[in-house]
Amino acid sequence: MTAFQPLLLAIESSCDETAAAVIARDLSVLSNVVASQAGLHERYGGVVPEVASRAHLQRMLPVIDDALNAAGVTLQDLTAIAVATEPGLVGSLLVGLTAAKTLALTLDIPLVPVNHIEAHLFACRMIAGRDIYPAIGFVVSGGHTNLYRCRSETEVELIGSTIDDAAGEAFDKVAAMLGLDYPGGPSLEKAALNGDPRAVLFPRAFLRDDRLDFSFSGLKTAVRYAIHGQPNAKTAPPPVTPQRIADLSASVQQAIVDILVAKCRQALKQSGLRQLCIGGGVAANTLFRSQLELMASEMHAEVIVPPMSYCTDNAAMGAIAWKLLDAGRVGNWETDVVPGLVRKR
Ligand code: KG4
Ligand code: ZN
Repeated sequence: MTAFQPLLLAIESSCDETAAAVIARDLSVLSNVVASQAGLHERYGGVVPEVASRAHLQRMLPVIDDALNAAGVTLQDLTAIAVATEPGLVGSLLVGLTAAKTLALTLDIPLVPVNHIEAHLFACRMIAGRDIYPAIGFVVSGGHTNLYRCRSETEVELIGSTIDDAAGEAFDKVAAMLGLDYPGGPSLEKAALNGDPRAVLFPRAFLRDDRLDFSFSGLKTAVRYAIHGQPNAKTAPPPVTPQRIADLSASVQQAIVDILVAKCRQALKQSGLRQLCIGGGVAANTLFRSQLELMASEMHAEVIVPPMSYCTDNAAMGAIAWKLLDAGRVGNWETDVVPGLVRKR
């Protein structure tokens, strides 16, 4: 069926994944190639923007080739080129945009700029295979902790976000403080398996506040004190044994998950909506998923969490470009990247 359908090539390079996908008009994904840079950034304990842009440069063309080959198509079969242009790391976004502009211009087909966050939320629409709007969208990754009210796939309004670190970043930074491997989220989740989530009561910022914003910087400070002791404290903190690391991991994980789930509950309550779409790498967390399910069933809401390959950065979610094309939202030679998060209210 898809052989006779229009096809688009989607490109994604907003952070540290170089990705390309071929997607048909009916949203079926013919290929979805992702080259992760996690290994390159591991030794620095976080994504180094300059390293990321250089790696995108090296990988972009091979990844596009792989995506076309895996789909069994050539450049001449394409109807449009989609590319993530915002938000993200400026150098990384520019590599993807330059590749996309070059292809669109030489093939004389439309260029479709894609908002990376809207694409994350669209992954839920793809997985559901049906209309899921209006919905609350929640993108929770190493770079974002953003809540949205989604009227449709292309009309999303930011209703809450972090005022400092993203939730994934909090996992990564706390894990580094505890001497756990990068990326911190999965390592901390593993360490937490043997720990007591009630061992240390960490702060849960804005938990009882009506606002839908997040803050994780106080949590980091609290973990530092739990490891090294409070300044001027009369007693020394407990020794950092493997059991203490497990207890701290479990307690931190519980604190972060409590906040994330509480804000989703509040967003559903305040909006009266009953659909919750999740995107971003933190969705891999088992405690987060199970507490979300529990909360959703209490709220008589449906939570849609795509499989991990569609939660973490990928180009298949660039399928949203078909909806943007329908809405006439195409780019041109002047199209530029927008690294920061634009608040649409
Ligand atoms: O979406 P993603 O792959 O990349 C971007 O940040 O754009 O998300 C990566 C983030 C990292 O901060 C990582 O620590 C976190 O997601 N993460 C997790 C887990 N797996 C990945 N956080 C908590 N628990 C996990 N199992
Ligand atoms: Zn992302």
